[in-house]
Amino acid sequence: MATDRNAAVFGAYGHTGRFVVAELRERGYVPLALGRDPDKLLTLERAHPGLETRQASVDDPASLDRALDGAAAVINCAGPFASTAAPLVEAAVRAGIPYVDVAAEIEANLDTFAHFAERARAAGTVVVPAMAFYGGLGDLLVTAAMGDWPAADEAHVAYGLSSWHPTAGTVASGVVSGQRRSGRRVRYTGGQLEYHDDALPTLEWPFPAPLGPQSVIGEFTMADVVTIPSHLAIPEVRTYMTAKAAEELSAPGASAPTAVDERGRSAQTFVVDVLVRSGGTERRVVAAGQDIYAISAPLAVEAVDRILTGRTRTTGVASAGAAFDAGDFLRALSPHLSLHFPLDVRG
Ligand SMILES: NC(=O)c1ccc[n+]([C@@H]2O[C@H](COP(=O)([O-])OP(=O)(O)OC[C@H]3O[C@@H](n4cnc5c(N)ncnc54)[C@H](OP(=O)(O)O)[C@@H]3O)[C@@H](O)[C@H]2O)c1
Repeated sequence: MATDRNAAVFGAYGHTGRFVVAELRERGYVPLALGRDPDKLLTLERAHPGLETRQASVDDPASLDRALDGAAAVINCAGPFASTAAPLVEAAVRAGIPYVDVAAEIEANLDTFAHFAERARAAGTVVVPAMAFYGGLGDLLVTAAMGDWPAADEAHVAYGLSSWHPTAGTVASGVVSGQRRSGRRVRYTGGQLEYHDDALPTLEWPFPAPLGPQSVIGEFTMADVVTIPSHLAIPEVRTYMTAKAAEELSAPGASAPTAVDERGRSAQTFVVDVLVRSGGTERRVVAAGQDIYAISAPLAVEAVDRILTGRTRTTGVASAGAAFDAGDFLRALSPHLSLHFPLDVRG
């Protein structure tokens, strides 16, 4: 039976999908676990008695329609999103339900904005791409840091990861994105995305204590360059990654994350240090927590909860910062995230 507590998760048996299913259950939702592989769905069902599973494929729209029957919303955790986002957004729009994904792929997120803005608005529903650690959290932090500023000169999002053991999905998504941009690099400058072949700079980023200054790779461009400029007038948006984590990500045969606690989180810790500049003034917000995959679940589920309870600002395709009250959203994540508010403002 359809209720507004039924939330479908596509890619439910993936690493991130499993965190999302657990988070939905903790928040009193009834997850509908969707995926393309019946054997993996059966394994998931056995591990979670009572969990409803439904097989569906992005190549078969009717299977997606059946899988979404009775769902109040869908969270897409199946990446590479270059293959899965469009068919799932199409299905959500057909069903007239909200769609949230965790895509960290710049080109796939751009496609979602470009192809679905009108149709999602016409359907009166909301589509939120990149509602996860990359793309979502940085956008919320920059939006909160902006406060009453209508525009800024620059936004900097520095990722201080203690390590990065990527999942198979992350590695595959990186390969697909690399192919889509023909091996070129991308940055956001002068109010637009720019593809280039320049070497990436290494610099020191002054993360606050206890992490302290770290060597980072500059122009290590993440999905925030899509989400932030989608609604904020900031012509320079730059993202940085601790050099050690960047090296681990690209190492051949990089090992997957391993659980160290009862929630399944890895030992990885993160600090996201956000700085916005306007004229001579800087504003800074810092968030810290454990496990970039695990934190993506409360981000995505909080988004769904806000949409289903009428706490969203828009219909159509919107990033986290545009769809929600950023400060309020971030405070709601306090069980998972330590936040350094109020803003550090220097004139
Ligand atoms: N923005 C962020 O911060 C953030 C955070 C977490 C994850 N992500 C992204 O989310 C994606 C999943 O990551 P993960 O950690 O969960 O990886 P994972 O453990 O490898 O899981 C990948 C999932 O995607 C499914 N999948 C892949 N291609 C599919 C297709 N064409 N049709 C149906 N299902 C498909 C896989 O199903 P099969 O096993 O059947 O192939 C599996 O369920 C990646 O793209 C990752 O970059 C982004």
